[in-house]
Amino acid sequence: MTRVFDEDLQAQFGTRAIHAGQRPDMLSGAIMTPIYTTSTYVQEGLGKNKGYEYARGKNPTREALERNVAALEGGTHGFAFSSGMGCTDSIMKLFKSGDHIVCGESMYGGTFRLFDKILKNFGLTFSYIDSRDPQRVADACRPTTVAIIMETPTNPLMRLTDLAAVGQIAKRANALYIVDNTFASPYFQRPFEHGADIVYHSSTKYLNGHSDMIGGIAIVRDDALAERMQFILNSSGAVPGAFDAWLVLRGTKTLHLRMPRHDENGRKIAAWLAEKIGHENVIYPGLSSHPQHELAKRQMTGFGGMISILCGTKDKAARVLSRVRVFSLAESLGGVESLISHPASMTHASVPVDRRNELGIRDDLVRLSCGVEDVGDLIADLEHAFG
Ligand SMILES: Cc1ncc(COP(=O)(O)O)c(C=O)c1O
Repeated sequence: MTRVFDEDLQAQFGTRAIHAGQRPDMLSGAIMTPIYTTSTYVQEGLGKNKGYEYARGKNPTREALERNVAALEGGTHGFAFSSGMGCTDSIMKLFKSGDHIVCGESMYGGTFRLFDKILKNFGLTFSYIDSRDPQRVADACRPTTVAIIMETPTNPLMRLTDLAAVGQIAKRANALYIVDNTFASPYFQRPFEHGADIVYHSSTKYLNGHSDMIGGIAIVRDDALAERMQFILNSSGAVPGAFDAWLVLRGTKTLHLRMPRHDENGRKIAAWLAEKIGHENVIYPGLSSHPQHELAKRQMTGFGGMISILCGTKDKAARVLSRVRVFSLAESLGGVESLISHPASMTHASVPVDRRNELGIRDDLVRLSCGVEDVGDLIADLEHAFG
């Protein structure tokens, strides 16, 4: 099990991003963490090794990443996985048949699919709650509730959960408080400061930032919980290869440089869109018209680059999607390049249509992941698309 280097926690965010978890290579002094492409480690004798036995359990490149992101989140232990879904699946193995879990009703479609189509069959029960109202989360807790899982802001509706209020509810319910921090990244939101027990990410997104791998990572700050997570990681084995771990590690070195630009572009594009098509059609926590703008200002230090847009009709949405040139029509988010997507038929196609309609994932909804290009070019692209 890999613990964060305590001295890394003394540094500020940008310094942690670049250095945390990484020390010059013992053999050569290489400043960049080597990519340890090995499945096993030669042992000096029976029971005598350098702390590494078999790479499913531990790999030095992966360890550097785990320490790095743990430091960025202000946690103590990181556990890297081969995808965000692999990470969620492994976290859920903390629980057993009969356990009840409260989660936000508006969440990434793949997470809902995992819970509703797979984990339900193993005896876990889920309550999907409109967590914009913390009282509803409290009301949903039962004696069998073992965890509260929140994603904030949510994909794609940009709904927020009051992290501190739900943290108190989780404490009272004696339930693990698990937060998907993918959309905000640790640069803009620090769930541990609001009582989270586990913070996790699809590292495919902002942590990597360059759309060149798939990964997930969970962070904890309690040693006993860390032991359980390491046991699951090693037993279930949904670990990333060393190269993918290294790609995320390279990405996090610039997280503190990329996020302000995503945020600046997001704010400018949201403001421009609100002028163009009306505030009521632009869903962005940074707009004062967002119903949870005050909460966003309280618990996030920036709003990021994710914007959802109501185009009016599915045909209008299709027209916008077909007319962009700088934004690319693609799933995923959080990379340096701007993407545009249609959640109802792409990222949230696995959510049944009735449920999508109930939640508000309408057919005319389009989602933008604003990259870090020159904002004038992005706005010109949207001007053409909406023209
Ligand atoms: C908020 C959120 N959590 C989890 C995931 C799943 O991550 P991955 O695609 O890396 O498996 C995604 C993917 O889009 C996501 O948006």
